[in-house]
Amino acid sequence: MTSTEAGGTKPAAKDPWALPDVSGLVIGVLGGTGDQGRGLAYRLARAGHRVIIGSRAADRARAAADELGHGTEGMDNAGCARESDVVIVAVPWEGHAATLTALREELAGKLVVDCVNPLGFDKKGAYALVPEEGSAAEQAAALLPDARVTAAFHHLSAVLLQDPAIEKIDTDVMVLGESRADCAIVQALAGRIPGMRGVFAGRLRNAHQVEALVANLISVNRRYSAHAGVRLTDI
Ligand SMILES: NC(=O)c1ccc[n+]([C@@H]2O[C@H](COP(=O)([O-])OP(=O)(O)OC[C@H]3O[C@@H](n4cnc5c(N)ncnc54)[C@H](OP(=O)(O)O)[C@@H]3O)[C@@H](O)[C@H]2O)c1
Repeated sequence: MTSTEAGGTKPAAKDPWALPDVSGLVIGVLGGTGDQGRGLAYRLARAGHRVIIGSRAADRARAAADELGHGTEGMDNAGCARESDVVIVAVPWEGHAATLTALREELAGKLVVDCVNPLGFDKKGAYALVPEEGSAAEQAAALLPDARVTAAFHHLSAVLLQDPAIEKIDTDVMVLGESRADCAIVQALAGRIPGMRGVFAGRLRNAHQVEALVANLISVNRRYSAHAGVRLTDI
Protein backbone atom coordinates (compact mmCIF):
# COMPACT_ATOMS: atom_id res chain seq x y z
CA MET A 1 0.00 0.00 0.00
CA THR A 2 1.18 3.58 -0.65
CA SER A 3 0.24 6.78 1.20
CA THR A 4 -2.04 9.29 -0.48
CA GLU A 5 -1.89 13.07 0.04
CA ALA A 6 -5.06 12.83 2.10
CA GLY A 7 -3.22 10.45 4.45
CA GLY A 8 -5.10 7.34 3.33
CA THR A 9 -3.71 4.34 1.54
CA LYS A 10 -4.30 2.84 -1.90
CA PRO A 11 -3.25 -0.52 -3.30
CA ALA A 12 0.21 -0.50 -4.92
CA ALA A 13 0.01 -0.68 -8.72
CA LYS A 14 0.50 -4.26 -9.92
CA ASP A 15 4.08 -4.89 -11.04
CA PRO A 16 3.95 -4.58 -14.86
CA TRP A 17 6.99 -6.87 -15.18
CA ALA A 18 5.37 -9.74 -13.26
CA LEU A 19 4.55 -12.07 -16.15
CA PRO A 20 3.03 -15.57 -16.17
CA ASP A 21 4.92 -18.82 -16.72
CA VAL A 22 4.22 -19.66 -20.36
CA SER A 23 6.76 -22.47 -20.75
CA GLY A 24 4.07 -25.14 -21.21
CA LEU A 25 2.13 -23.40 -24.00
CA VAL A 26 1.88 -24.97 -27.45
CA ILE A 27 2.61 -22.41 -30.15
CA GLY A 28 1.21 -22.61 -33.67
CA VAL A 29 2.36 -20.46 -36.58
CA LEU A 30 -0.01 -19.93 -39.52
CA GLY A 31 2.11 -19.35 -42.61
CA GLY A 32 4.97 -20.90 -40.66
CA THR A 33 6.71 -21.99 -43.87
CA GLY A 34 7.63 -18.35 -44.65
CA ASP A 35 10.59 -16.35 -43.37
CA GLN A 36 8.92 -14.70 -40.39
CA GLY A 37 6.99 -17.79 -39.35
CA ARG A 38 10.04 -20.04 -39.61
CA GLY A 39 12.07 -17.57 -37.60
CA LEU A 40 9.54 -17.33 -34.76
CA ALA A 41 8.96 -21.09 -34.81
CA TYR A 42 12.70 -21.72 -34.61
CA ARG A 43 13.25 -19.31 -31.70
CA LEU A 44 10.28 -20.53 -29.66
CA ALA A 45 11.14 -24.20 -30.27
CA ARG A 46 14.72 -23.45 -29.27
CA ALA A 47 13.30 -21.93 -26.06
CA GLY A 48 11.63 -25.29 -25.31
CA HIS A 49 8.07 -24.85 -26.62
CA ARG A 50 6.14 -27.41 -28.59
CA VAL A 51 5.78 -25.57 -31.90
CA ILE A 52 3.50 -26.45 -34.81
CA ILE A 53 4.16 -24.96 -38.23
CA GLY A 54 1.01 -24.32 -40.24
CA SER A 55 0.70 -24.14 -44.01
CA ARG A 56 -1.98 -24.28 -46.68
CA ALA A 57 -0.37 -27.65 -47.53
CA ALA A 58 0.52 -30.06 -44.73
CA ASP A 59 3.46 -31.55 -46.65
CA ARG A 60 5.08 -28.09 -46.98
CA ALA A 61 4.64 -27.60 -43.23
CA ARG A 62 6.21 -30.99 -42.48
CA ALA A 63 9.13 -30.24 -44.80
CA ALA A 64 9.73 -26.90 -43.02
CA ALA A 65 9.53 -28.63 -39.62
CA ASP A 66 12.08 -31.23 -40.75
CA GLU A 67 14.44 -28.44 -41.76
CA LEU A 68 13.97 -26.47 -38.54
CA GLY A 69 14.32 -29.42 -36.17
CA HIS A 70 14.08 -28.73 -32.42
CA GLY A 71 10.98 -30.95 -32.29
CA THR A 72 8.88 -28.67 -34.52
CA GLU A 73 5.88 -30.32 -36.19
CA GLY A 74 4.03 -29.48 -39.40
CA MET A 75 0.30 -29.51 -40.13
CA ASP A 76 -2.16 -27.73 -42.36
CA ASN A 77 -3.25 -24.34 -40.97
CA ALA A 78 -6.51 -25.76 -39.54
CA GLY A 79 -4.72 -28.56 -37.66
CA CYS A 80 -2.12 -26.09 -36.43
CA ALA A 81 -4.83 -23.76 -35.07
CA ARG A 82 -6.72 -26.63 -33.40
CA GLU A 83 -3.66 -28.11 -31.67
CA SER A 84 -2.15 -24.87 -30.37
CA ASP A 85 -2.81 -22.68 -27.32
CA VAL A 86 -1.29 -19.60 -28.92
CA VAL A 87 -1.56 -19.06 -32.68
CA ILE A 88 0.76 -16.59 -34.42
CA VAL A 89 -0.56 -15.23 -37.73
CA ALA A 90 2.41 -14.91 -40.11
CA VAL A 91 0.79 -14.89 -43.56
CA PRO A 92 1.14 -12.03 -46.08
CA TRP A 93 -1.40 -9.20 -45.75
CA GLU A 94 -2.93 -10.25 -49.07
CA GLY A 95 -3.97 -13.61 -47.57
CA HIS A 96 -4.83 -12.35 -44.08
CA ALA A 97 -8.61 -11.96 -44.25
CA ALA A 98 -9.25 -15.16 -46.20
CA THR A 99 -6.96 -17.23 -43.95
CA LEU A 100 -8.64 -16.05 -40.74
CA THR A 101 -12.16 -16.28 -42.12
CA ALA A 102 -11.57 -19.94 -42.99
CA LEU A 103 -10.22 -20.68 -39.48
CA ARG A 104 -12.87 -18.90 -37.40
CA GLU A 105 -14.03 -22.11 -35.76
CA GLU A 106 -10.57 -23.54 -35.05
CA LEU A 107 -9.43 -20.22 -33.58
CA ALA A 108 -12.38 -19.77 -31.19
CA GLY A 109 -11.02 -19.33 -27.66
CA LYS A 110 -7.39 -19.27 -28.83
CA LEU A 111 -4.89 -16.55 -28.07
CA VAL A 112 -4.13 -15.17 -31.53
CA VAL A 113 -0.99 -13.07 -32.08
CA ASP A 114 -1.08 -11.07 -35.29
CA CYS A 115 2.30 -9.91 -36.62
CA VAL A 116 1.12 -8.86 -40.07
CA ASN A 117 2.29 -5.52 -41.47
CA PRO A 118 0.08 -4.25 -44.31
CA LEU A 119 2.60 -2.65 -46.65
CA GLY A 120 2.77 -1.53 -50.24
CA PHE A 121 5.96 -1.26 -52.28
CA ASP A 122 6.69 1.03 -55.22
CA LYS A 123 9.78 2.60 -56.73
CA LYS A 124 10.14 4.90 -53.70
CA GLY A 125 10.23 1.93 -51.33
CA ALA A 126 7.84 0.56 -48.71
CA TYR A 127 4.80 2.42 -47.45
CA ALA A 128 2.03 1.64 -44.98
CA LEU A 129 -1.39 0.59 -46.25
CA VAL A 130 -4.46 1.60 -44.23
CA PRO A 131 -6.83 -1.35 -43.82
CA GLU A 132 -10.54 -0.60 -43.74
CA GLU A 133 -10.72 -1.88 -40.14
CA GLY A 134 -7.80 0.38 -39.10
CA SER A 135 -5.08 -2.28 -38.93
CA ALA A 136 -4.42 -5.95 -39.62
CA ALA A 137 -4.93 -6.67 -35.92
CA GLU A 138 -8.33 -4.97 -35.87
CA GLN A 139 -9.30 -6.88 -39.00
CA ALA A 140 -8.35 -10.10 -37.15
CA ALA A 141 -10.46 -9.07 -34.15
CA ALA A 142 -13.42 -8.30 -36.42
CA LEU A 143 -13.14 -11.62 -38.26
CA LEU A 144 -12.54 -13.69 -35.10
CA PRO A 145 -15.10 -12.53 -32.53
CA ASP A 146 -14.54 -15.64 -30.37
CA ALA A 147 -10.74 -15.47 -30.33
CA ARG A 148 -8.49 -13.45 -28.01
CA VAL A 149 -6.67 -11.27 -30.53
CA THR A 150 -3.39 -9.53 -29.73
CA ALA A 151 -0.73 -7.97 -31.95
CA ALA A 152 3.06 -8.35 -31.55
CA PHE A 153 6.37 -9.33 -33.23
CA HIS A 154 5.96 -6.76 -36.04
CA HIS A 155 9.46 -5.31 -35.87
CA LEU A 156 11.58 -8.46 -35.79
CA SER A 157 14.02 -9.33 -38.52
CA ALA A 158 13.31 -12.74 -40.01
CA VAL A 159 16.98 -12.88 -41.02
CA LEU A 160 18.14 -12.58 -37.40
CA LEU A 161 15.43 -14.92 -36.13
CA GLN A 162 16.47 -17.68 -38.53
CA ASP A 163 20.23 -17.41 -38.04
CA PRO A 164 21.25 -20.24 -35.67
CA ALA A 165 24.60 -18.54 -35.00
CA ILE A 166 22.82 -15.62 -33.32
CA GLU A 167 22.24 -16.37 -29.63
CA LYS A 168 20.59 -13.09 -28.56
CA ILE A 169 18.27 -10.72 -30.39
CA ASP A 170 18.53 -7.36 -28.68
CA THR A 171 15.10 -5.76 -29.12
CA ASP A 172 11.77 -4.87 -27.54
CA VAL A 173 8.49 -6.37 -28.73
CA MET A 174 5.47 -4.09 -28.54
CA VAL A 175 2.39 -6.07 -27.50
CA LEU A 176 -1.12 -4.74 -28.04
CA GLY A 177 -4.51 -6.10 -27.10
CA GLU A 178 -7.75 -5.58 -25.25
CA SER A 179 -6.93 -7.99 -22.40
CA ARG A 180 -3.98 -7.21 -20.11
CA ALA A 181 -3.80 -10.89 -19.12
CA ASP A 182 -3.49 -12.02 -22.76
CA CYS A 183 -0.91 -9.31 -23.46
CA ALA A 184 1.08 -10.51 -20.44
CA ILE A 185 1.17 -14.02 -21.92
CA VAL A 186 2.51 -12.66 -25.23
CA GLN A 187 5.02 -10.43 -23.41
CA ALA A 188 6.24 -13.49 -21.52
CA LEU A 189 6.53 -15.44 -24.79
CA ALA A 190 8.69 -12.69 -26.29
CA GLY A 191 10.82 -12.87 -23.16
CA ARG A 192 11.51 -16.56 -23.83
CA ILE A 193 13.76 -15.46 -26.71
CA PRO A 194 17.14 -14.33 -25.33
CA GLY A 195 17.62 -10.54 -25.59
CA MET A 196 13.93 -9.79 -26.20
CA ARG A 197 11.59 -7.96 -23.88
CA GLY A 198 7.81 -7.82 -24.34
CA VAL A 199 6.31 -4.42 -23.55
CA PHE A 200 2.59 -3.66 -23.25
CA ALA A 201 1.87 -0.96 -25.87
CA GLY A 202 -1.87 -0.33 -25.76
CA ARG A 203 -5.11 -1.45 -27.27
CA LEU A 204 -5.72 -2.72 -30.79
CA ARG A 205 -7.02 0.67 -31.96
CA ASN A 206 -3.39 1.79 -31.79
CA ALA A 207 -2.03 -1.14 -33.79
CA HIS A 208 -1.94 0.71 -37.11
CA GLN A 209 1.09 2.87 -36.34
CA VAL A 210 2.95 -0.12 -34.87
CA GLU A 211 2.35 -2.10 -38.06
CA ALA A 212 3.14 0.95 -40.21
CA LEU A 213 6.48 1.62 -38.47
CA VAL A 214 7.90 -1.33 -40.39
CA ALA A 215 7.96 0.84 -43.52
CA ASN A 216 10.39 3.13 -41.65
CA LEU A 217 12.47 0.19 -40.43
CA ILE A 218 12.77 -1.05 -44.02
CA SER A 219 14.14 2.39 -45.01
CA VAL A 220 16.59 2.23 -42.08
CA ASN A 221 17.71 -1.25 -43.10
CA ARG A 222 18.28 -0.19 -46.69
CA ARG A 223 20.24 2.94 -45.75
CA TYR A 224 22.44 1.25 -43.13
CA SER A 225 22.53 -2.35 -44.46
CA ALA A 226 21.12 -3.48 -41.12
CA HIS A 227 18.38 -5.53 -39.45
CA ALA A 228 17.14 -2.77 -37.16
CA GLY A 229 14.84 -3.43 -34.22
CA VAL A 230 13.15 -1.16 -31.68
CA ARG A 231 14.12 -0.34 -28.09
CA LEU A 232 11.84 1.64 -25.77
CA THR A 233 13.84 3.65 -23.26
CA ASP A 234 13.21 4.65 -19.62
CA ILE A 235 10.97 1.73 -18.70
N1 LIG B 1 9.74 -11.14 -43.03
C1 LIG B 1 9.90 -10.36 -41.97
O1 LIG B 1 11.03 -9.98 -41.61
C2 LIG B 1 8.70 -9.96 -41.15
C3 LIG B 1 8.88 -9.30 -39.93
C4 LIG B 1 7.76 -8.95 -39.16
C5 LIG B 1 6.49 -9.25 -39.62
N2 LIG B 1 6.33 -9.86 -40.81
C6 LIG B 1 4.97 -10.16 -41.28
O2 LIG B 1 4.82 -11.57 -41.26
C7 LIG B 1 4.02 -12.00 -42.35
C8 LIG B 1 4.75 -13.07 -43.11
O3 LIG B 1 5.93 -12.55 -43.66
P1 LIG B 1 6.90 -13.46 -44.54
O4 LIG B 1 7.99 -12.62 -45.00
O5 LIG B 1 7.22 -14.71 -43.79
O6 LIG B 1 5.90 -13.80 -45.76
P2 LIG B 1 5.90 -14.93 -46.87
O7 LIG B 1 7.13 -15.75 -46.75
O8 LIG B 1 5.60 -14.26 -48.16
O9 LIG B 1 4.61 -15.80 -46.47
C9 LIG B 1 4.52 -16.62 -45.35
C10 LIG B 1 3.75 -17.88 -45.71
O10 LIG B 1 2.35 -17.55 -45.86
C11 LIG B 1 1.78 -18.47 -46.78
N3 LIG B 1 1.03 -17.70 -47.79
C12 LIG B 1 1.51 -17.06 -48.88
N4 LIG B 1 0.52 -16.45 -49.56
C13 LIG B 1 -0.61 -16.73 -48.87
C14 LIG B 1 -1.98 -16.39 -49.06
N5 LIG B 1 -2.37 -15.63 -50.11
N6 LIG B 1 -2.88 -16.85 -48.16
C15 LIG B 1 -2.50 -17.60 -47.11
N7 LIG B 1 -1.22 -17.97 -46.88
C16 LIG B 1 -0.30 -17.52 -47.75
C17 LIG B 1 2.89 -19.27 -47.41
O11 LIG B 1 2.87 -20.55 -46.79
P3 LIG B 1 2.17 -21.83 -47.48
O12 LIG B 1 2.30 -21.65 -48.96
O13 LIG B 1 3.00 -22.93 -46.93
O14 LIG B 1 0.77 -21.82 -46.98
C18 LIG B 1 4.15 -18.54 -46.99
O15 LIG B 1 5.25 -19.40 -46.80
C19 LIG B 1 3.72 -10.76 -43.21
O16 LIG B 1 2.42 -10.35 -43.00
C20 LIG B 1 4.73 -9.73 -42.72
O17 LIG B 1 4.17 -8.42 -42.75
C21 LIG B 1 7.40 -10.23 -41.59
